[in-house]
Amino acid sequence: MEKFRISSDRAFELLDKYGSPLYVYSEEIIRRRCREMKGLLTYRNFRVHYSAKANTNLELLKIIREEGLDVDAMSPGELIIEEKAGFAPEQIFYVSNNISPEEMKFVIERGILLSVDSLSQLELYGRLNPGGRVAVRFNTGVGAGHHEKVNTGGEKTKFAIQAEAAPQVKEVLDRYGLKLAGINQHIGSLFLDVDSYITGARKLFQLAMEFPGLDFVDLGGGFGIPYHPLEERLDLVQLGRELEKVLQEFLAEYENPELTVMIEPGRYIVAEAGLLLGKCHAIKENYGTKYIGTDLGFNVLMRPVLYGSYHEVEVLKNPANGGKKGGLEKVNIVGNICESGDILAKNRELPLIEEGDVVAVLDVGAYGYVMASNYNCRLRPAEVLLDREGRDRLIRRRETLDDLLRHF
Ligand code: LLP
Repeated sequence: MEKFRISSDRAFELLDKYGSPLYVYSEEIIRRRCREMKGLLTYRNFRVHYSAKANTNLELLKIIREEGLDVDAMSPGELIIEEKAGFAPEQIFYVSNNISPEEMKFVIERGILLSVDSLSQLELYGRLNPGGRVAVRFNTGVGAGHHEKVNTGGEKTKFAIQAEAAPQVKEVLDRYGLKLAGINQHIGSLFLDVDSYITGARKLFQLAMEFPGLDFVDLGGGFGIPYHPLEERLDLVQLGRELEKVLQEFLAEYENPELTVMIEPGRYIVAEAGLLLGKCHAIKENYGTKYIGTDLGFNVLMRPVLYGSYHEVEVLKNPANGGKKGGLEKVNIVGNICESGDILAKNRELPLIEEGDVVAVLDVGAYGYVMASNYNCRLRPAEVLLDREGRDRLIRRRETLDDLLRHF
């Protein structure tokens, strides 16, 4: 089982019980993905940090912790949920970006290691915690990703400190007596071929040579999943083999042969474990385009509208519709948000969809619920976990209209 799918009967049962729309997750797939990532390298000081921004549901974090992964955070919110999920301070790595002095203090006081991504934030760290232990995020000039909005390396990104500024970094470290615990990078989100990651790793290791005595090098995340049925899976065996080679070459030269190597996968751990169920409420044809109107607006799943992302869609027939079958037809699946860009799937060839049928959207476990919003004052959906025995459990309740009034 690569992707999480459920039967029509099960989908209707869950929607009857928990309402629509609904995020549903597979515990089995999350655990399997955690193990695959842990097996990427045989090197004994290899650690996998789950990049929690992909999905911060408390119960999913507990599963990931049980699997032996550590975790990244990038906001106080992520941090406190991770603590609640049972991660110890030394298991959390705070990859910060343009944070306030208050936020930096919040992290330092909790004994959590933090990476800064500019000289000005390194100065701030030095002022707040002279003599402290810190990490620095570098941009080695290598970028990757499925969209320019998520490419975080190379010459056109706000992230990290360019590798050429290593001497200035050293100067600030010395001035405040800081210990550089590690260096990290993240080249971007979603690569499916191994080359860019390997090139990025090689560059970061080269840079590490300029900083003797590091405890770790963190190569970042970005491991892609095949959203489209014609895409090939990322070849983790090949990636692992090549990475191991680059790593061994580096360790042979580096002064700390026990150095820890970290990676930060987000999407890979959870994306395929998530399914979004929604209902079709209206159908129309306007000027030659057939629209399937659902409750899956971009307040629920933003990726298609924000990045033009493709998500596979399955039609689950409502038994009450009498089992009518038709051939494939091209449709636009749209939501209930007041913008014409509110399109979940465009020109998609699908079996006949009727009112009352269910639309299941695949691979939504990463950057799905976490990017959901209250736009148009719509409510964020519930989340349900299917455990390894297939039993369902509510892991986040649906919002209510009262939740919307709570802040006034
Ligand atoms: N590390 C850092 C520093 C990151 O910024 C990210 C993602 C990750 C790790 C994890 O990347 P992953 O393994 O999940 O690719 N909302 C977008 C993705 C944004 C990624 C942001 N940073 C999407 O839906 O495609």
